Amino acid sequence: MIDILNSIKTDSISKINDIDSLHELDQLKSFLLGKKSPLMDVLKEIPKIPAQDRPIIGKQANQLKEDLTNCLNQKKQELINKERDHFLNNNQTDISLPTSGLPSGTYHPITTVTRLICSILNRYGYAIKQGPNIESDFNNFEALNIAPNHPARDMHDTFYLKNKRVLRTHTSPVQIRTMLMQEPPIKIIAPGKVYRCDADTSHSPVFHQIEGLFVDKHITFADLKGTLEAFLQELFGKNHAIRFRSSYFPFTEPSVEIDVSYTVNGKTSWLEIMGAGMVQRNVFRHVSYDPDSYTGFAFGLGIERIAMILYEIDNIRLFYENDHRFLSQF
Ligand code: DAH
Repeated sequence: MIDILNSIKTDSISKINDIDSLHELDQLKSFLLGKKSPLMDVLKEIPKIPAQDRPIIGKQANQLKEDLTNCLNQKKQELINKERDHFLNNNQTDISLPTSGLPSGTYHPITTVTRLICSILNRYGYAIKQGPNIESDFNNFEALNIAPNHPARDMHDTFYLKNKRVLRTHTSPVQIRTMLMQEPPIKIIAPGKVYRCDADTSHSPVFHQIEGLFVDKHITFADLKGTLEAFLQELFGKNHAIRFRSSYFPFTEPSVEIDVSYTVNGKTSWLEIMGAGMVQRNVFRHVSYDPDSYTGFAFGLGIERIAMILYEIDNIRLFYENDHRFLSQF
């Protein structure tokens, strides 16, 4: 019995020494100490041997079990250390090195210009309002004094939807929505997308406008002119000349269009950037305001046009192509 225990010991220790991975060590552990191991076989035999030999053999067998357990644990620690050293020697990362610098995104130029315009007008006391892109015929046309057969409807190249709905052709319906909701004084701007069935180098079927409306008692054309001149001067600086031209819009009277001089490729010309005027009395009637008590001015400007001047861009489509080479310049 003693000889068997000794040979189990020699055999087991040499097997443990040969092991090179934690996985194999686990398997060997169940082979050496599991229920069907040679050592267990010996322990099972103990009740059968003469009583006087049992304590010695039992003690030896238990000692062997303890020795093998220690030996396996020691080997396990050795392998863990070896694996860690291997990892440290081969996967060293120098965390003090600078990163390669991930490219960071920026705002789209249309967003930047919208925010710039809103921040100036916000400072002048205009609150920001928004309206839906799908509008009723009433808000987009009729309440703005554009009756069903009015020729101005043709100028708008409207996308018509079902049930007398349209994709809004301008941000002016936000004027109507606001006036239907509240009484004067009203001082709002409304940035957003607008839609027209039109496309060339200076027209896109979707583009952006900012609407403005100021209604109160005693608002005059002088307020309109002073406000818009101050605003445009802040926006463009002194290098761009500004000109007011008399014009026509159904929802304002008198009406003006405002042009800004701009130079691209050494050539200077005027670019129309906004329409404006005193709110037409019929518009007030449509929202149940008394046109004898209140006056006001309104304006609407095209954001793309302004971005084209500020960034000297000559093709509106560049804004929508999402060409990274173009966008990363801003
Ligand atoms: N809604 C007009 C357009 O899209 C622009 C405009 C002109 C808005 C004059 C106004 C205004 O509020 O007073 O062409």
